[in-house]
Amino acid sequence: MNDQPQDKIRIEDLSFFYGDFQALDAVTLAIRPNEVFGLMGPAKSGKSTLLRVLNRMCDLIPGIKVTGRVRLDNDDILAPDCDLVGLRRRVGLVLSRPTPLPRSIFENLALAPRLAGRKSRGELAALVETSLQAARLWDEVKDRLQDSALKLSGGQQQRLCLARTLAMEPEVILLDEPTSGLDPISTAKIEETLLQLKNQYTIVLVSNNTKQIARATDRVAFLLMSQIIEIGDTRRVFTVPKDKRTDDYISDRFG
Ligand SMILES: Nc1ncnc2c1ncn2[C@@H]1O[C@H](COP(=O)(O)OP(=O)(O)O)[C@@H](O)[C@H]1O
Ligand SMILES: [Mg+2]
Repeated sequence: MNDQPQDKIRIEDLSFFYGDFQALDAVTLAIRPNEVFGLMGPAKSGKSTLLRVLNRMCDLIPGIKVTGRVRLDNDDILAPDCDLVGLRRRVGLVLSRPTPLPRSIFENLALAPRLAGRKSRGELAALVETSLQAARLWDEVKDRLQDSALKLSGGQQQRLCLARTLAMEPEVILLDEPTSGLDPISTAKIEETLLQLKNQYTIVLVSNNTKQIARATDRVAFLLMSQIIEIGDTRRVFTVPKDKRTDDYISDRFG
Protein backbone atom coordinates (compact mmCIF):
# COMPACT_ATOMS: atom_id res chain seq x y z
CA MET A 1 0.00 0.00 0.00
CA ASN A 2 1.29 3.37 -1.05
CA ASP A 3 0.82 5.57 2.02
CA GLN A 4 1.90 9.01 0.92
CA PRO A 5 1.69 11.36 3.88
CA GLN A 6 0.91 14.35 1.69
CA ASP A 7 -2.55 13.02 0.86
CA LYS A 8 -5.43 14.10 3.09
CA ILE A 9 -7.88 11.60 1.57
CA ARG A 10 -6.88 8.49 -0.33
CA ILE A 11 -9.55 6.60 -2.24
CA GLU A 12 -8.56 3.25 -3.71
CA ASP A 13 -10.63 1.02 -5.95
CA LEU A 14 -13.89 2.33 -4.52
CA SER A 15 -17.07 0.81 -5.91
CA PHE A 16 -20.56 1.67 -4.74
CA PHE A 17 -23.90 -0.03 -5.38
CA TYR A 18 -27.50 1.03 -4.78
CA GLY A 19 -28.97 -2.46 -4.82
CA ASP A 20 -27.89 -3.84 -8.19
CA PHE A 21 -27.07 -0.45 -9.69
CA GLN A 22 -23.39 0.46 -9.68
CA ALA A 23 -22.95 4.19 -9.06
CA LEU A 24 -19.15 4.20 -8.61
CA ASP A 25 -16.81 1.87 -10.48
CA ALA A 26 -13.28 1.35 -9.14
CA VAL A 27 -12.61 4.99 -8.29
CA THR A 28 -9.04 5.74 -7.25
CA LEU A 29 -7.96 9.25 -6.38
CA ALA A 30 -6.03 11.20 -3.79
CA ILE A 31 -6.93 14.60 -2.38
CA ARG A 32 -4.12 16.70 -0.95
CA PRO A 33 -4.30 18.90 2.12
CA ASN A 34 -5.11 22.56 1.52
CA GLU A 35 -6.25 22.21 -2.03
CA VAL A 36 -9.60 22.84 -3.63
CA PHE A 37 -10.23 19.58 -5.42
CA GLY A 38 -12.94 19.73 -8.09
CA LEU A 39 -15.22 16.91 -9.07
CA MET A 40 -17.02 17.53 -12.35
CA GLY A 41 -19.24 15.48 -14.59
CA PRO A 42 -22.72 15.37 -16.06
CA ALA A 43 -25.79 14.66 -13.92
CA LYS A 44 -25.97 11.14 -12.50
CA SER A 45 -22.29 10.41 -13.00
CA GLY A 46 -21.86 9.63 -9.29
CA LYS A 47 -20.51 12.91 -7.90
CA SER A 48 -22.91 13.18 -4.95
CA THR A 49 -22.51 9.48 -4.23
CA LEU A 50 -18.76 9.92 -3.90
CA LEU A 51 -19.19 12.84 -1.48
CA ARG A 52 -21.68 10.84 0.58
CA VAL A 53 -19.12 8.06 0.98
CA LEU A 54 -16.51 10.51 2.26
CA ASN A 55 -18.51 11.31 5.39
CA ARG A 56 -20.47 8.04 5.38
CA MET A 57 -23.82 9.79 4.93
CA CYS A 58 -24.44 6.97 2.44
CA ASP A 59 -25.02 4.70 5.45
CA LEU A 60 -28.45 6.26 5.81
CA ILE A 61 -29.60 4.71 2.51
CA PRO A 62 -30.87 1.12 2.75
CA GLY A 63 -29.52 -1.54 0.39
CA ILE A 64 -26.17 0.03 -0.44
CA LYS A 65 -22.86 -1.80 -0.77
CA VAL A 66 -19.40 -0.23 -0.70
CA THR A 67 -16.11 -1.93 -1.59
CA GLY A 68 -12.56 -0.59 -1.69
CA ARG A 69 -10.58 1.60 0.68
CA VAL A 70 -10.90 5.20 1.80
CA ARG A 71 -8.42 6.76 4.19
CA LEU A 72 -8.66 10.13 5.91
CA ASP A 73 -5.09 10.75 7.06
CA ASN A 74 -4.33 7.30 8.43
CA ASP A 75 -7.86 6.35 9.40
CA ASP A 76 -9.83 3.75 7.46
CA ILE A 77 -13.21 5.47 7.19
CA LEU A 78 -14.97 2.43 5.71
CA ALA A 79 -14.05 0.31 8.73
CA PRO A 80 -17.13 -1.08 10.51
CA ASP A 81 -15.92 0.43 13.78
CA CYS A 82 -15.32 3.91 12.33
CA ASP A 83 -16.68 6.58 14.71
CA LEU A 84 -19.31 8.20 12.44
CA VAL A 85 -20.07 11.15 14.69
CA GLY A 86 -16.36 11.95 14.87
CA LEU A 87 -15.96 11.44 11.11
CA ARG A 88 -18.83 13.79 10.27
CA ARG A 89 -17.32 16.40 12.54
CA ARG A 90 -14.01 16.10 10.66
CA VAL A 91 -15.66 16.00 7.22
CA GLY A 92 -18.44 18.58 6.81
CA LEU A 93 -20.92 18.61 3.92
CA VAL A 94 -22.62 21.65 2.37
CA LEU A 95 -25.55 20.79 0.11
CA SER A 96 -26.73 22.58 -3.00
CA ARG A 97 -29.94 23.85 -1.49
CA PRO A 98 -29.30 25.89 1.68
CA THR A 99 -30.88 24.24 4.68
CA PRO A 100 -30.92 26.72 7.58
CA LEU A 101 -32.74 25.67 10.73
CA PRO A 102 -35.86 27.74 11.53
CA ARG A 103 -33.96 29.47 14.29
CA SER A 104 -31.88 32.60 14.75
CA ILE A 105 -28.70 33.18 12.78
CA PHE A 106 -26.74 32.77 16.02
CA GLU A 107 -28.46 29.49 16.93
CA ASN A 108 -27.87 28.03 13.49
CA LEU A 109 -24.15 28.23 14.21
CA ALA A 110 -24.07 27.67 17.96
CA LEU A 111 -26.45 24.73 18.28
CA ALA A 112 -24.24 21.86 17.16
CA PRO A 113 -21.05 23.02 18.89
CA ARG A 114 -23.07 23.53 22.09
CA LEU A 115 -24.51 20.02 21.83
CA ALA A 116 -20.98 18.73 21.29
CA GLY A 117 -20.49 20.21 24.72
CA ARG A 118 -17.13 21.86 24.73
CA LYS A 119 -17.87 25.58 24.66
CA SER A 120 -18.67 28.30 27.15
CA ARG A 121 -20.95 31.22 26.16
CA GLY A 122 -17.97 33.40 25.34
CA GLU A 123 -16.33 30.68 23.29
CA LEU A 124 -19.56 30.08 21.38
CA ALA A 125 -19.96 33.78 20.60
CA ALA A 126 -16.37 33.91 19.35
CA LEU A 127 -16.88 30.78 17.26
CA VAL A 128 -20.04 32.24 15.71
CA GLU A 129 -18.17 35.41 14.79
CA THR A 130 -15.09 33.70 13.31
CA SER A 131 -17.25 31.27 11.33
CA LEU A 132 -19.38 34.08 9.90
CA GLN A 133 -16.25 36.08 9.11
CA ALA A 134 -14.70 33.10 7.32
CA ALA A 135 -17.85 32.58 5.27
CA ARG A 136 -17.87 36.33 4.40
CA LEU A 137 -21.27 36.88 5.99
CA TRP A 138 -20.38 38.67 9.22
CA ASP A 139 -20.66 42.25 7.94
CA GLU A 140 -24.14 41.59 6.58
CA VAL A 141 -25.57 40.00 9.74
CA LYS A 142 -23.56 41.18 12.75
CA ASP A 143 -26.32 43.56 13.87
CA ARG A 144 -29.10 40.99 13.63
CA LEU A 145 -27.75 37.70 14.92
CA GLN A 146 -31.03 37.06 16.74
CA ASP A 147 -33.13 37.37 13.54
CA SER A 148 -34.47 34.24 11.97
CA ALA A 149 -32.07 32.68 9.48
CA LEU A 150 -35.03 32.15 7.18
CA LYS A 151 -35.18 35.93 6.53
CA LEU A 152 -31.81 35.85 4.77
CA SER A 153 -31.54 35.78 0.98
CA GLY A 154 -30.64 32.52 -0.77
CA GLY A 155 -27.01 33.55 -1.20
CA GLN A 156 -26.78 34.59 2.46
CA GLN A 157 -28.42 31.34 3.56
CA GLN A 158 -25.83 29.35 1.63
CA ARG A 159 -22.98 31.28 3.26
CA LEU A 160 -24.72 30.66 6.60
CA CYS A 161 -24.70 26.92 5.89
CA LEU A 162 -21.02 27.13 5.02
CA ALA A 163 -20.42 29.03 8.28
CA ARG A 164 -22.39 26.36 10.16
CA THR A 165 -20.09 23.71 8.76
CA LEU A 166 -17.03 25.79 9.70
CA ALA A 167 -18.34 26.18 13.25
CA MET A 168 -17.92 22.42 13.65
CA GLU A 169 -14.19 23.02 13.09
CA PRO A 170 -13.83 20.34 10.41
CA GLU A 171 -10.69 19.34 8.51
CA VAL A 172 -12.38 18.66 5.18
CA ILE A 173 -15.29 20.56 3.62
CA LEU A 174 -17.36 18.87 0.92
CA LEU A 175 -19.56 21.13 -1.21
CA ASP A 176 -22.17 19.57 -3.49
CA GLU A 177 -23.04 22.10 -6.21
CA PRO A 178 -23.16 24.84 -3.57
CA THR A 179 -23.98 27.66 -5.97
CA SER A 180 -26.37 25.95 -8.34
CA GLY A 181 -29.33 28.00 -7.10
CA LEU A 182 -27.48 31.30 -6.61
CA ASP A 183 -27.10 34.53 -8.54
CA PRO A 184 -23.65 35.45 -9.95
CA ILE A 185 -22.77 37.83 -7.10
CA SER A 186 -23.50 35.27 -4.38
CA THR A 187 -21.67 32.66 -6.45
CA ALA A 188 -18.60 34.88 -6.68
CA LYS A 189 -18.69 35.42 -2.90
CA ILE A 190 -18.74 31.68 -2.25
CA GLU A 191 -15.88 31.12 -4.69
CA GLU A 192 -13.78 33.88 -3.04
CA THR A 193 -14.49 32.31 0.31
CA LEU A 194 -13.21 28.92 -0.85
CA LEU A 195 -9.97 30.51 -1.99
CA GLN A 196 -9.39 31.85 1.54
CA LEU A 197 -10.54 28.70 3.30
CA LYS A 198 -8.12 26.38 1.57
CA ASN A 199 -5.29 27.77 3.69
CA GLN A 200 -6.90 26.06 6.63
CA TYR A 201 -9.00 23.24 5.20
CA THR A 202 -9.09 20.64 2.47
CA ILE A 203 -11.99 21.32 0.13
CA VAL A 204 -13.82 19.10 -2.35
CA LEU A 205 -16.07 21.08 -4.69
CA VAL A 206 -18.63 19.27 -6.83
CA SER A 207 -19.99 21.28 -9.69
CA ASN A 208 -21.54 20.60 -13.04
CA ASN A 209 -20.50 24.12 -14.02
CA THR A 210 -17.17 23.70 -15.81
CA LYS A 211 -16.45 27.45 -15.66
CA GLN A 212 -16.71 27.34 -11.89
CA ILE A 213 -14.42 24.32 -11.71
CA ALA A 214 -11.90 26.11 -13.93
CA ARG A 215 -12.02 29.25 -11.76
CA ALA A 216 -12.16 27.79 -8.30
CA THR A 217 -10.18 24.51 -8.15
CA ASP A 218 -6.51 23.48 -8.08
CA ARG A 219 -6.96 19.95 -9.34
CA VAL A 220 -9.93 18.20 -10.85
CA ALA A 221 -11.34 14.77 -11.55
CA PHE A 222 -13.79 14.16 -14.39
CA LEU A 223 -16.40 11.55 -13.54
CA LEU A 224 -18.55 10.01 -16.26
CA MET A 225 -21.03 7.18 -15.82
CA SER A 226 -19.58 6.02 -12.47
CA GLN A 227 -15.95 6.09 -13.63
CA ILE A 228 -13.06 8.51 -13.30
CA ILE A 229 -12.00 9.45 -16.80
CA GLU A 230 -9.21 11.87 -15.97
CA ILE A 231 -7.51 13.54 -12.99
CA GLY A 232 -5.00 16.38 -13.05
CA ASP A 233 -4.09 19.98 -12.41
CA THR A 234 -7.13 22.00 -13.37
CA ARG A 235 -5.24 24.26 -15.77
CA ARG A 236 -3.72 21.28 -17.56
CA VAL A 237 -7.02 19.39 -17.80
CA PHE A 238 -8.75 22.45 -19.24
CA THR A 239 -5.99 23.27 -21.72
CA VAL A 240 -4.67 19.86 -22.80
CA PRO A 241 -7.14 17.17 -21.74
CA LYS A 242 -5.75 13.69 -22.24
CA ASP A 243 -9.05 11.97 -22.92
CA LYS A 244 -11.39 12.84 -25.79
CA ARG A 245 -14.38 12.51 -23.44
CA THR A 246 -12.92 15.15 -21.12
CA ASP A 247 -12.37 17.40 -24.09
CA ASP A 248 -15.97 16.94 -25.19
CA TYR A 249 -17.26 17.66 -21.70
CA ILE A 250 -15.27 20.83 -21.09
CA SER A 251 -16.07 22.16 -24.54
CA ASP A 252 -19.73 21.52 -23.86
CA ARG A 253 -20.22 18.89 -26.52
CA PHE A 254 -21.99 16.59 -24.08
CA GLY A 255 -25.71 15.93 -24.15
N1 LIG B 1 -30.71 6.82 -3.05
C1 LIG B 1 -30.53 6.28 -4.29
N2 LIG B 1 -31.07 5.10 -4.61
C2 LIG B 1 -30.89 4.56 -5.85
N3 LIG B 1 -30.14 5.12 -6.82
C3 LIG B 1 -29.56 6.30 -6.54
C4 LIG B 1 -29.73 6.94 -5.27
N4 LIG B 1 -29.04 8.11 -5.29
C5 LIG B 1 -28.48 8.18 -6.52
N5 LIG B 1 -28.79 7.11 -7.27
C6 LIG B 1 -28.35 6.86 -8.66
O1 LIG B 1 -26.93 6.81 -8.71
C7 LIG B 1 -26.44 7.48 -9.87
C8 LIG B 1 -25.49 8.57 -9.46
O2 LIG B 1 -26.21 9.56 -8.75
P1 LIG B 1 -25.50 10.81 -8.07
O3 LIG B 1 -24.35 10.34 -7.26
O4 LIG B 1 -26.55 11.60 -7.40
O5 LIG B 1 -24.93 11.57 -9.36
P2 LIG B 1 -24.57 13.12 -9.58
O6 LIG B 1 -24.38 13.76 -8.25
O7 LIG B 1 -23.32 13.07 -10.40
O8 LIG B 1 -25.70 13.72 -10.34
C9 LIG B 1 -27.67 8.00 -10.61
O9 LIG B 1 -27.99 7.10 -11.65
C10 LIG B 1 -28.77 7.99 -9.56
O10 LIG B 1 -30.03 7.77 -10.13
MG1 LIG C 1 -25.36 15.35 -7.38
